Amino acid sequence: MTAQVAAPNFVRHQSLINWVNDIAKLTKPAKIEWCDGSDEEYNRLINLMIDNGTMIKLNDEKHPNSYLASSDPSDVARVEDRTFICSEREIDAGATNNWQEPAQMRTKLNSLFDGCMAGRTMYVVPFSMGPLGSHIAHIGIEITDSPYVVVSMRKMARMGKAVYDVLGADGKFVPCVHSVGRPLADGEKDVAWPCNDDKYIVHFPESREIWSYGSGYGGNALLGKKCLALRIASVMGREQGWLAEHMLILGVTNPKGEKHYIAAAFPSACGKTNFAMLIPPAGYEGWKVETVGDDIAWIKPSEDGRLYAINPEAGFFGVAPGTNTKTNSNCMASLAQDVIYTNVAVTEDGEVWWEGKTKETPDNLINWKGEKHDGREKASHPNARFTVSAAQCPSIDPNWENPEGVPISAFIFGGRRADTVPLISEAFDWVDGVYKAATMGSETTAAATGAQGVVRRDPFAMLPFSGYNMADYFSHWLEMGEKLEKLTSEHGTKMPKMFKVNWFRRDENGDFVWPGFGQNMRVLEWIINRCEDRANAVRTPIGLVPTYDDLNWTNSDFSKAQFDLVTSQDKNQWIDELNSHKELFDKLGERMPKTLKDHNQKLLQDIQA
Ligand code: OXD
Ligand code: MN
Repeated sequence: MTAQVAAPNFVRHQSLINWVNDIAKLTKPAKIEWCDGSDEEYNRLINLMIDNGTMIKLNDEKHPNSYLASSDPSDVARVEDRTFICSEREIDAGATNNWQEPAQMRTKLNSLFDGCMAGRTMYVVPFSMGPLGSHIAHIGIEITDSPYVVVSMRKMARMGKAVYDVLGADGKFVPCVHSVGRPLADGEKDVAWPCNDDKYIVHFPESREIWSYGSGYGGNALLGKKCLALRIASVMGREQGWLAEHMLILGVTNPKGEKHYIAAAFPSACGKTNFAMLIPPAGYEGWKVETVGDDIAWIKPSEDGRLYAINPEAGFFGVAPGTNTKTNSNCMASLAQDVIYTNVAVTEDGEVWWEGKTKETPDNLINWKGEKHDGREKASHPNARFTVSAAQCPSIDPNWENPEGVPISAFIFGGRRADTVPLISEAFDWVDGVYKAATMGSETTAAATGAQGVVRRDPFAMLPFSGYNMADYFSHWLEMGEKLEKLTSEHGTKMPKMFKVNWFRRDENGDFVWPGFGQNMRVLEWIINRCEDRANAVRTPIGLVPTYDDLNWTNSDFSKAQFDLVTSQDKNQWIDELNSHKELFDKLGERMPKTLKDHNQKLLQDIQA
């Protein structure tokens, strides 16, 4: 029997109610719950999941109000090969997205979703990406049969009843439908982490709809994040003249009180959260780094001639392994309470642990699969996560919820490269910056399923997240640059500078050379000084770079020889690199902007000269 939709009186939006009704008719849940975002609701769903074996409550002294969810071992990461962009025309999805003809996909989805919530509760989750009611925020309604999604969305977005006040009777929202794809027969007992081997994460960019089937995990299921705030928002941004980017946003203040905000793109699991929460090292007394966001930025040109960015999220869904008080003590402090962990290990007295949390592995650990840890496999999954409200971060920026956003002085593009790409280089101009970002490459990590450690091109770190043709995405960035050139010259403001970094150069033994983490401050200082026109740079064929003496080495024993290693540019490696950029551009097809193709040839000539 299909549950009937009796909308509560806080929902006044008839077409939303009709849509919920239609989805209920299709998915046939046993019950429908209109979520209000209250504490009562949160606690009730947590208890439900504890009873069902999805979660355990952690040691309340060590981890107040915190829980550990353990997923099915087959449902541990984003599934990029099951993610689809179903634009009307294939060319609009482009060469890097999986495309399927929308009508065919709708037929498929109709059959998958038919009865898929049988025996389950269907939750209706209202959320805002961006501060509630702000002119730059966008509202989504996620229908889901997963209580894990409901409680996670409450941390990751502004979720609850107040969203309906903003929506009113006819406000716009992005409809998001999610099911774990595991209907229950009458009387059938549920499993701890229901999911389905057949997974579909589907976006219809023209109608701005999201449909997700078969996974309960992270970016596959919390549809406000990658699906709405990146894939759908990137399409909106292109149409409306703004940018939806896979970028952290941080603020740096020097001892004189000058503050600069920087947005930085790195592929998944390259240390974005750590960089966003950087603690300046000894010798940098009086400097402050503050966090606006760790994963997504929405960036818009403003009438005052500058670019402003907001973090549309309200929480962090960060990778736990490798996080500790040395690598990211702000993050560890954020995790003091009210955290939902997923797939980390746990001690017998209910304390969480992951590889890299402490030097010693505690005795009697239970691994992420719920088995006794015997040291043969990792205790926590490499993509184990924490979900926590951003407001709990000690370095959170006072402007992080400012609906106007924060002005951006510079962009940083990074990647995980053992060789070729130097520690830091500055782009010659906007086009060169777009080129640097477009040709980003990185060794793959556990954030997505598939082979790890292979260099893949990940333009702007948006390869899995652009909701449209990547070549058009480059054109959009180039056009934004042209508009910004005009705007900045009218207002006497500066173009944001663009930089490429690589914290991950290795020596001949395969060891990282650059210490990273807090030491990245030295690079940040040079970047800020370049923005203020007060630091030197040397012109090389692939960008403007600092010499050893241009960086501040107070309290550091990093030698000139080590610096030469992390900043070296090998001509032959660069010829190969530029040729591989050309391969990417060729693959991106007919819409690839000529400006970037020409730039590739120019760089090749310069390096060979
Ligand atoms: C993430 C990712 O979860 O990029 O942020 O995979
Ligand atoms: Mn990310």
